[in-house]
Amino acid sequence: MNTYFDNAATTFPKPHEVKEAITRCLEAFSANPGRGGHRLARQAEALVEEARREVASLFGRRDPSWVIFTLNATDAINMAVRGVVQHGDKVLTTVYEHNAVLRVLFELEREGIIEVKVICPEEEEYTPEDFVPHIGRGVRLVCLNHISNVTGKILPVEDIARVVKTYSDALVLVDVSQSAGMVSLQGEDVDLIAGTGHKHLYGPMGVGFLVVKPGVSLRPWRVGGTGYRSEDLFQPEEMPYRLEAGTPNLPGIAGLLAGIRWVRDKNAFAHDQSLLERFANGIKDTAFMWYRPKRGIGVVSLRHPFVGVQELAMILDSEYDIASRAGLQCAPLVHKKLGTFPEGTLRLSFSLWHTDEDIDFLVEALKTIDLMFKQGGGGVV
Ligand SMILES: Cc1ncc(COP(=O)(O)O)c(C=O)c1O
Repeated sequence: MNTYFDNAATTFPKPHEVKEAITRCLEAFSANPGRGGHRLARQAEALVEEARREVASLFGRRDPSWVIFTLNATDAINMAVRGVVQHGDKVLTTVYEHNAVLRVLFELEREGIIEVKVICPEEEEYTPEDFVPHIGRGVRLVCLNHISNVTGKILPVEDIARVVKTYSDALVLVDVSQSAGMVSLQGEDVDLIAGTGHKHLYGPMGVGFLVVKPGVSLRPWRVGGTGYRSEDLFQPEEMPYRLEAGTPNLPGIAGLLAGIRWVRDKNAFAHDQSLLERFANGIKDTAFMWYRPKRGIGVVSLRHPFVGVQELAMILDSEYDIASRAGLQCAPLVHKKLGTFPEGTLRLSFSLWHTDEDIDFLVEALKTIDLMFKQGGGGVV
């Protein structure tokens, strides 16, 4: 039985192919890519280039030199935002952002560099029209989360990006941490795509990426050695060296490449939607309140009228060995919008490893807890 339901934090376990690729890299060619003309360094470099091509093609991009490997999405977002904004710029964003975006923006606002405007429509749905009155007038960047890590909601980021580009020259950054490998993001309107390798791409932790639209110029946020133009005391202008400095996480990149290839032909979204429907049918007669979006993935946020979310998570863990995540999930503003701040929700998130039986087990556990608290019972099942 797979009782790990914290896949929005990181998918677990990782595919055999990913583990094998990491081991093979460490055993066979873990030399420093781009820092030596010898065979092993060339082999390492070839792997990095192959991974760049694979990441580029995930987003329909053709030029792999505009794919930058980072530590994670947080790193990629810092690189993108700090590389773009200048004193006096305005930045628009949504309530669905993770702290990986919010804290970068609000730190910059506190330093007096930018002004942040969080767009929050009355309705649950964001439409491009919500952004129209705010774009122009000094807006340099629009930051959008593709899929909420709290409710699984899919935002219409391509439509918003199209409208932003129609009316202004602001850049659009999309956080694909929860969508990459699950829901595709195509089109030319998005300038900056920030992602992480360890969620629905099934790679290891410690590797992420920033995909930049060719021609978009970012100030380098991290500078240093590249193994390229070493005579120059300044960061090279050419991509990817302009933004990628220091020795990369080669085993991580090997694992990410294998993860992308593993997930590519799996139709993760169809699998996810079928698990989601099964879960919905299972819990429909319980008192659980589900903050279910109209269009979303298997990231389920729940509350129960008679028991707190921390206690729920504890019971699931201790009585059923079910891993969940209770609280604000690093995304406080969406909880304010939902009315679930500051306690947050109990989050259960699915993966390709889950079967119908795993969902049934989860549902049975929730039903038992529901019944017990409805009858006024204590915390022990
Ligand atoms: C929507 C979203 N953005 C950004 C992040 C940050 O990812 P990382 O911790 O890999 O940088 C997460 C992680 O949970 C996320 O869900």
